[in-house]
Amino acid sequence: MRAAMAQAPVGDDQYGEDPTTNLLQFRLAEILGKEASLWLPTGTMANQVALRVLTRPGDEVIASRQSHAGWHEAGGAAANAGVQIHEIGERGMFTPEELRAAIKPRNFAIFPSTTLVQIENTHNRAGGVVVPQGLVENLCATAREEGLATYLDGARLWNASVASGLAPATLAAPFDLVAVAFSKGLGAPAGSLLAGSKATIDSARRHRQRMGGAMRQNGILAAAALYGLEHHLERLAIDHANARLIAERLAARTLVQLDLATVETNIVVFNLPAASKLDAPGLTQRARERDVLLNAFGPRTLRIVTHLDVNTEQCKKAAEILVELLKG
Ligand SMILES: Cc1ncc(COP(=O)(O)O)c(C=O)c1O
Repeated sequence: MRAAMAQAPVGDDQYGEDPTTNLLQFRLAEILGKEASLWLPTGTMANQVALRVLTRPGDEVIASRQSHAGWHEAGGAAANAGVQIHEIGERGMFTPEELRAAIKPRNFAIFPSTTLVQIENTHNRAGGVVVPQGLVENLCATAREEGLATYLDGARLWNASVASGLAPATLAAPFDLVAVAFSKGLGAPAGSLLAGSKATIDSARRHRQRMGGAMRQNGILAAAALYGLEHHLERLAIDHANARLIAERLAARTLVQLDLATVETNIVVFNLPAASKLDAPGLTQRARERDVLLNAFGPRTLRIVTHLDVNTEQCKKAAEILVELLKG
């Protein structure tokens, strides 16, 4: 990847003249079956630009419970787009009935107007679960009937594709606008892209400029993303198997509360029972001392992510260390 970055032909991407970024944008639009796509430096900026493109200040956006947009973007939806997020459902999903019940009518004196529904697939805080495609299609059809725009936060769309066996274009098809990330499972140092109709992407380009996200010799980074697509996509199945083996090891000792059905991809989210002497920050710190890194997601909730920098042996060892720490 470093060699590909060093050799990348570059130009000024703010003028649309960076050949490697243009190639990446062309390829991604093709892969996702959309008219056009646009580079953004991060997934957070992609989500922020999407809100600017698809909503107006004062609108309401319906999203899944504990969505990245509501929890991990420092209030950006409100601060940058002037919208509020209404979270519904559970475990990263919601039904068409729940969606319909949550929609507030437009132009009603006291309500914010619901104008957008956003789906996160896979869903980070719900444990990397894949949202079933039948449900996605029903939700987007309902949104269309109700006159709402549809947005997919597909930062981990690649994981959803490998886990479900469905092509990225199939997963993206029901949505007006889709984001994917190259800096997660695919291992590039930066980069998320938005894909949609040409008009939507033209609008996104102006909002990217406004947010200061248009870059110059970006081909160095785009080359890493292209390399990730080429070399690191299929191997995501290894990350999924590694997450599974850690989850099974933890669940087998019943030291943690963990629903194995949620472990479909590269994320393991689990809770520490009330009886456990360690809380989440405590376990995180003790594990770090043993070179095992995981996130505390709440007082007793933790997240493990597997990725291309950790192999199966290391994952087995990490699971043993966690079991040892939890046994006290
Ligand atoms: C679902 C989801 N969307 C968006 C992002 C934001 O990506 P970035 O870290 O590149 O800003 C993340 C990051 O973890 C994520 O999990």
